[in-house]
Amino acid sequence: MAEYMTPFTTMINLNTGVIPNAVVVQKRYLRDLEGLFADSIAEDALMIDNPLLYEVHEATENPMEEGQLRYSTTTIYPGKVGDEYFFTKGHYHAIGNRAELYMGLAGDGYLLLMSPDGEINVQHMTPGAMSYVPPFWAHRTINVGKENFVFFACYPSDAGYDYQSIADKGFAQIVVEQDGKPALVSNPKWVK
Ligand code: F6R
Ligand code: ZN
Repeated sequence: MAEYMTPFTTMINLNTGVIPNAVVVQKRYLRDLEGLFADSIAEDALMIDNPLLYEVHEATENPMEEGQLRYSTTTIYPGKVGDEYFFTKGHYHAIGNRAELYMGLAGDGYLLLMSPDGEINVQHMTPGAMSYVPPFWAHRTINVGKENFVFFACYPSDAGYDYQSIADKGFAQIVVEQDGKPALVSNPKWVK
């Protein structure tokens, strides 16, 4: 007889992103993102306080095998390093052809995407926005508002994370505050 996995339900607080029974809560501080912000002087100055930039609540530890899904929430706190808004590290999926679905729950954010040949795409995420990360696109989320930016993510369990490519090259463009509004500008640190 085949063995079937038991179905289950996870509760998520849609305002805060808190998952009370999360299997992992990962907190990422500025030090964890060292070198990723464009303004190195501002980054160094803020490193003394080493603020919490975001946290990820993972709802499941479903097996990392083809056909399975995992899902999580991410809360990015408001703030900037120089003019650049707080963001997530950003990654390609280790298995590049794995897609992902994001849904905005609270606050105001941008989803910054980059194709492997350096094409940039930006999606504005507010509560209810369902944003699709197609296969192969690197993705980073950014809090461009004054409140917490919270979103839900669902992705293939075996997708994995390639952070190194982003650490090495960055994104071709970054999101900074200009005249009180978010603006997309070239990344001075971008390595083609
Ligand atoms: C999973 C995914 C999200 C992010 C999370 C934190 O594939 O895209 O759950 O992992 O938003 O961002 P990173 O992983 O870039 O620190
Ligand atoms: Zn992802």
